Amino acid sequence: MTRRSRLPDAIYGFPESESQSRRLALELGVPHRAIGVHRFPDGETRITVAPPAENAIVYRSLDRPNEKLVELLLAASALRDQGARRLTLLAPYMAYMRQDAAFQDGEAVSQRAIGAWLGRAFDRVVTVNPHLHRTPSIAEIFPGAEAIAADAAPALAAHIAALGLADAVLVGPDEESAALVHAVGALAKRPLLIGRKVRQGDRGVDIEIDGIARIVNAPVVIVDDIVSSGATFMTCARLLKRAGAARILGLVVHALYSPESAQGMQNAGVETIASTDTVPHPSNAIPLALTLAGALRRRP
Ligand code: R5P
Repeated sequence: MTRRSRLPDAIYGFPESESQSRRLALELGVPHRAIGVHRFPDGETRITVAPPAENAIVYRSLDRPNEKLVELLLAASALRDQGARRLTLLAPYMAYMRQDAAFQDGEAVSQRAIGAWLGRAFDRVVTVNPHLHRTPSIAEIFPGAEAIAADAAPALAAHIAALGLADAVLVGPDEESAALVHAVGALAKRPLLIGRKVRQGDRGVDIEIDGIARIVNAPVVIVDDIVSSGATFMTCARLLKRAGAARILGLVVHALYSPESAQGMQNAGVETIASTDTVPHPSNAIPLALTLAGALRRRP
């Protein structure tokens, strides 16, 4: 079997991330097909996926996920109805990974519920740096489907090298960022510090960083997998500024934050944030088409 014949027959992209899905199709050398999305006045959606393919990738990042999830299942159903035998969901940002336990009585374990749902609809799920804190392996999340987690660390490290900040210190704001920050630090050959975070609510956190004196007069790059409300970045930046950082920059895999949060982070002292394009966002500076194409070629 040739390498080409093992790749998907086509990549189907939703409108909001069409430039990313087209770039990936180009990188892999397979056709790109745009998914039609029509929203009726009553809030329901008609999804059109054509022409069919036996082995198809559906590309959709699952930020602001609720409506997108339903549309995704409609797309999968349309492809199956037309004879698809192998369906891959390529969701560069995978939603609902952080609620991996019932922290209070009665709470849904969203990671398990959404994972089971997607695992039934798709044969394979590909994502980038899923937020797995207490779940040891991504394979557990999507029962019945193969699961692949592509790693953005090499692309983040390359971005640091391109910035040329030879004396920069990397800072991970909490234990949950530690694996990513260690991987980026090793590849970029930069020293690093990892903080300890206590969350006080959706928009409030406390952070402590042992050995923070290391950053006095040095440029600092805060590295994290997700920025959502921006509270983690704001608190971390204020702490670093008070401790004497020369400059504070940010590097993020999944940028989910609003313009108001961007302003808040800037006010807290963050000069600029560069994110990957897993979620279409004004901060996108690091395209991951090569990373995703590499993951798909390795395990077609
Ligand atoms: C979890 O702790 C993650 O690594 C991020 O630090 C977190 O999701 C960021 O959320 P926020 O921007 O709302 O503080």
